[in-house]
Amino acid sequence: MKNIVILISGRGSNMEAIVAAQTAERWPARIAAVISNKPEASGLAFAQSHGIPTAVVDHRAYPERDAFDAALQQTVDSFAPDLVVLAGFMRVLTDGFVDHYAQRMINVHPSLLPSFPGLKTHQRALEAGVKLHGATIHFVTAELDLGPILLQGVVPVKAGDDPETLRQRVLAIEHQIYPRAVRWFVEGRVSVAGGLASLTPPEPQWWFATEQA
Ligand code: GAR
Repeated sequence: MKNIVILISGRGSNMEAIVAAQTAERWPARIAAVISNKPEASGLAFAQSHGIPTAVVDHRAYPERDAFDAALQQTVDSFAPDLVVLAGFMRVLTDGFVDHYAQRMINVHPSLLPSFPGLKTHQRALEAGVKLHGATIHFVTAELDLGPILLQGVVPVKAGDDPETLRQRVLAIEHQIYPRAVRWFVEGRVSVAGGLASLTPPEPQWWFATEQA
């Protein structure tokens, strides 16, 4: 039974999708904790209502990034994680923290990496005129938004889209791909070599939106 610790900063809709899939599909894993850097994160209430332990490590209490990451690491490790899942966790992490969870920490980013790392991804996709956009589940490495790619979900960019309509379409595919990627990991199917993440047995590591909003 693998322990999953999920880190959130806000709404936590990806965390909800992972909890729902884990409950429905009975993976060999349990959600050991949901941890937020913001006490007001609304996702905490969802976790509590599902009997999942929660914790808050408020970044505002730590003026130094290193001290915050050390406190966060201590809290995360108290739940003995096999996998740390960043689900809308909006903090840049120090190299030491990232190294500590090397090859056992994954993130969802709202673009088809390596296009559009960083913020305002949907606006930048529209400005670039790309015709396909999406989300990426990747391992977290020291380089922001550039770790080995585990799974990508693809959506069309439609005439008349604005950043909000595109955000909603991408978020819907995030909810489809993130539980899938977590399940692959807890089933022991994922390996990382040479900066690339692969699956055993192999299976497509992309996903096209089925319902087009
Ligand atoms: C998601 O769209 C996720 O891709 C994004 O934050 C949102 C969190 O939503 N993450 C990033 O931008 C990380 N750089 P959620 O709290 O409802 O899961």
